Amino acid sequence: MDVDILGRVLSTLPDDDEHPYRSGPWRPQTVERAVPECEVVGTVPADLDGVYLRNTENPVHPALTNYHPFDGDGMVHVVGFRDGKAFYRNRFVRTDGFLAEQEAGGSLWAGIAERPEVARRTDGWGARGRMKDASSTDVVVHAGVALTSFYQCGELYRLDPLTLDTLGKSTWGGAFPAEGVSAHPKVDTNGDLLFFNYGKDAPYLHYGVIGPDDKLAHYTGVELPGPRLPHDMAFTENYAILNDPPLFWRPELLAKGAHSARFHPDLPLRIGVLPKRGDGREIRWFEAESTFVLHFVNAYEDGDEIVLDGFFQSDPEGRGSAAFPDDPAHAKMFRMLSLDGVQTRLHRWRLNLATGATKEERLTDTITEFGMINGGHAGRPYRYTYASTGRPGWFLFDGLVKHDLLTGAEERYRYGDGVYGSETAVAPRVGARSEDDGYLITMTTDMTEDRSECLVFDATRVADGPVARVRLPERVSSGTHSTWAPGADLPGWRTAQDPAAAVGLAGPGARPR
Ligand SMILES: [Fe+2]
Repeated sequence: MDVDILGRVLSTLPDDDEHPYRSGPWRPQTVERAVPECEVVGTVPADLDGVYLRNTENPVHPALTNYHPFDGDGMVHVVGFRDGKAFYRNRFVRTDGFLAEQEAGGSLWAGIAERPEVARRTDGWGARGRMKDASSTDVVVHAGVALTSFYQCGELYRLDPLTLDTLGKSTWGGAFPAEGVSAHPKVDTNGDLLFFNYGKDAPYLHYGVIGPDDKLAHYTGVELPGPRLPHDMAFTENYAILNDPPLFWRPELLAKGAHSARFHPDLPLRIGVLPKRGDGREIRWFEAESTFVLHFVNAYEDGDEIVLDGFFQSDPEGRGSAAFPDDPAHAKMFRMLSLDGVQTRLHRWRLNLATGATKEERLTDTITEFGMINGGHAGRPYRYTYASTGRPGWFLFDGLVKHDLLTGAEERYRYGDGVYGSETAVAPRVGARSEDDGYLITMTTDMTEDRSECLVFDATRVADGPVARVRLPERVSSGTHSTWAPGADLPGWRTAQDPAAAVGLAGPGARPR
């Protein structure tokens, strides 16, 4: 395998690091690599054309006091497929915080499990404040550019989706909101980007729309009863769907400057339905059974009803989790990260716009999360979601499940002992004729073979296992959110003789820096 070294970054982590989320499957990368043509076991389908992008928390410095796995710097991995071949690249997101800490040789900001006062800098980002915007949570492609985001709200960093060069931050012509943008902005099928942010100041939530021209087309405040911690949103053809979850910083402690998130089972989940270009005061709230929803899957309109699918948590604080039974120091921090701990199951809410009533039902007893769909069905009726199963006690995905929402059938694949996948994106086949006429893509961390692969499944035959295993140049850290971008959506893709070295949007991209 020919491997080009693109760059090496300063890491001050100890060689014998024992932090459970910086070692083992979570051992971070410090080297940026490019492989123009990866070795493949099996066959890369000729009609698989585009890029799989995965964001990853990838720490390079010890925390000031207490590391949380959501604190690590953003690193994006790309595996591109064209003409039956695959290329690979990994790059850090050059955030302001990452660059400042490279310069300083250590952590400057406090993570989510640390008190803000321990930060060495008084500035920072995030709804909480005085955090580093690691841009490590999510990645989407909008208007031909990859955008990385941060769950605590921050900048959107712009990356060339082929070279992964950081192109800068979204400015939206000077209209980028001071409140920042949360993770999970949504790319609508008409080319709009829908987003939200949340914070500690009234009205506590904002929603907005970016057009295909990358300009701010709409921005409105949505009043909540107080600071809340929503993580995701959804949309239909005509509506944006926001939520007011009963999980928030304890108000009595917040008044003293302490940030302690608590689930409030006595309060309902409130789901807000707002016309896509509507004023925030037009939002209609629907009350549902109390839970916290980390991720929604999709939504669509069905007569008077909005159908909303997502993952209901039976135990949002994860009190039943088996997380780290022998490690009380970490148990409290990590119990909310394991799927078996929070008990996440696919769930359907029906919101009746005529009557204001909410109906809801559990769609399966199987515990999964991180559901992905064919992006062409986003906001529209759909049938399939492809979700992950979790290793008990850990924030690790040990397999995937194809849920057929029409029949209730489930098809499963388990990666194997010591092998963990990431969020599994759907890559429609070029010329696809149906919703599941395509491929599923995930990236593994294989502790048994000490390697990583990018797996390609036929979406209609998940249980048969991958049709192609793309070998990556080293074992990469476990990571989560991913996306698929068809080559047709990527500037420079069709004309590039070699997409791995494509000029793309950023000029020659293979240069170390
Ligand atoms: Fe997320």
